Amino acid sequence: MNIQYILDLKPNWTRVVISTLCGTCLIGLLVKWIHRVRADSLILKARNRRETNLLQAEEVVRDYNDSHPGAYGCLIHSLSARQLTLSLKEGSLVPEDVLFSYMTKALEANKRLNCCTEIMMESLNHSKSMDSYKDGLLYGVPVSIKDNVGCKGYDSTCGLLCRLNQPALEDSVIVEVLRRQGAIPFVKTNVPQSLMSYECSNPIYGTCVNPHNPKKTPGGSSGGEGALIKGGGSLLGIGTDIGGSIRIPCSFSGICGLKPTCNRLSTKGISSSVKGQTSVKTSVGPMARDVDSLALCMQALLSDHMFTLDPTVPPIPFNTEVYQSSKPLRIGYYENDGYQHPSPSMLRGVREVKALLERAGHTFVAFKPLKMEYAMNDLIIKAFFSDGSSTLLKLVQNWPIIEYIRETIDEWKRCDLDVLLCPVIGPAFNHNYSAKLVCALSSTLLFNLLSFPAGVVPVSSVTPADEILLKQFKGNFQDLWDREFVQAVKGGEGLPVAVQCVALPWQEELCLRFMKEVETLLTCH
Ligand SMILES: *[C@@H]1O[C@H](CO)[C@@H](O)[C@H](O)[C@H]1NC(C)=O
Ligand SMILES: *[C@@H]1O[C@H](CO)[C@@H](O)[C@H](O)[C@H]1NC(C)=O
Ligand SMILES: *[C@@H]1O[C@H](CO)[C@@H](O)[C@H](O)[C@H]1NC(C)=O
Repeated sequence: MNIQYILDLKPNWTRVVISTLCGTCLIGLLVKWIHRVRADSLILKARNRRETNLLQAEEVVRDYNDSHPGAYGCLIHSLSARQLTLSLKEGSLVPEDVLFSYMTKALEANKRLNCCTEIMMESLNHSKSMDSYKDGLLYGVPVSIKDNVGCKGYDSTCGLLCRLNQPALEDSVIVEVLRRQGAIPFVKTNVPQSLMSYECSNPIYGTCVNPHNPKKTPGGSSGGEGALIKGGGSLLGIGTDIGGSIRIPCSFSGICGLKPTCNRLSTKGISSSVKGQTSVKTSVGPMARDVDSLALCMQALLSDHMFTLDPTVPPIPFNTEVYQSSKPLRIGYYENDGYQHPSPSMLRGVREVKALLERAGHTFVAFKPLKMEYAMNDLIIKAFFSDGSSTLLKLVQNWPIIEYIRETIDEWKRCDLDVLLCPVIGPAFNHNYSAKLVCALSSTLLFNLLSFPAGVVPVSSVTPADEILLKQFKGNFQDLWDREFVQAVKGGEGLPVAVQCVALPWQEELCLRFMKEVETLLTCH
């Protein structure tokens, strides 16, 4: 913990070397002690500020409830983003009631899950003067925002002490476009320290837990989003994905999420933990209880307003025709990528969905990710995790990845695929296993490497039979990590089971259409 505190405080490196070399001598201890005291005082201040913010929000929400009896029925919480904004435009609901209602739920969820870092109090004022936004596609929809997505006046801590007390001077492009479309950003959500983890714990705000079972992590790094949405405190959220950070929390908490192609949506104003790391590989994307809310959010964001604010984003508007198409699909399929074998429940998930899609008239084609060991060991793990991705960026600019992406697209074309169905990591891990299991991320990392749009849809939940099969799980290599993986996912009965849906770059609409198909078949089933 001490070392992490020291790193957090952007130390003078000479002092770190001294304090490490003199670890046992007096100077070393003194330096450590000073850092420790500074860190503790920063943490204490941040926690007090958060406590005050939450108490204030609770008070305001209570007052509103007292003075507006019957303002919120359970109806509000059963509506998708599209239904909600329609009711608001028709006038059967008013934005203020909707926001107060979600804020009440968010505060409740936060008490159980520790998923929120700060309530955006001025959102309450915004919700009172929304008339000029009536044409917006997200008119009156409250939206939760991941910590590192810039909101004017709020910290983007990335879970790091050194980022405290540096409020954003302006909104990120995404947040600005959301506001323009009538959405009301109202809460910022918890993340893991430095964002480089697929759990959700940091020294400032503590550990966020899974809404289904507090012994499990909600995943990360958009873990606070996943927990809050599943916990009922939000219907639409914005996350970021650099190795699965949207898809993993969606799988672990049991909601829907989309990681778009890099730069389909603007990343301007979004922070990453490693200074100088360009956001080339970070995707920003929506998370929600249902697929259609993701689609509406994408449609709202892919607007002239975003293309003007960030001209580096290709001006491709949302293609509604593709999203609404019902032509039968040619679906690539694999159960095992040859690197991380899926857990029994996740395997059952893809098999059941495949059977439903076949019955609905879609065609399946066997597809195998290319050279998975090379992709993981040589392209991803070595490069990505050794030095905060600068090697990865060098690779991207040179040949091997580009080559790998081309080969994969050639194979995809040879099989004449529209989309791909495959497993996603899950079910939710027990706490403190993710750091040991980077290799378990192959299911999500592959599509960051390829920059293909990929989404997650919950399809089932873990059964006692799945747990029995897990006891015989051998994995692909029968090594230490395969055994650790069993320890990480065991005790998962009742947790969500999800699948991953993938399309070629810039085909977010097709990916969403496929996800919607999966969701619909499961509901009708
Ligand atoms: C809101 O007020 C109603 C009574 O009008 C009460 O039953 C309910 O518990 C209150 N909700 C909250 C969150 O305070
Ligand atoms: C909300 O509006 C009121 C009245 O205009 C103002 O006093 C208050 O400071 C505003 N609150 C926030 C958090 O902006
Ligand atoms: C996980 O690790 C943290 C920090 O080392 C520790 O405080 C916590 O108790 C651990 N949780 C579990 C469930 O082992």
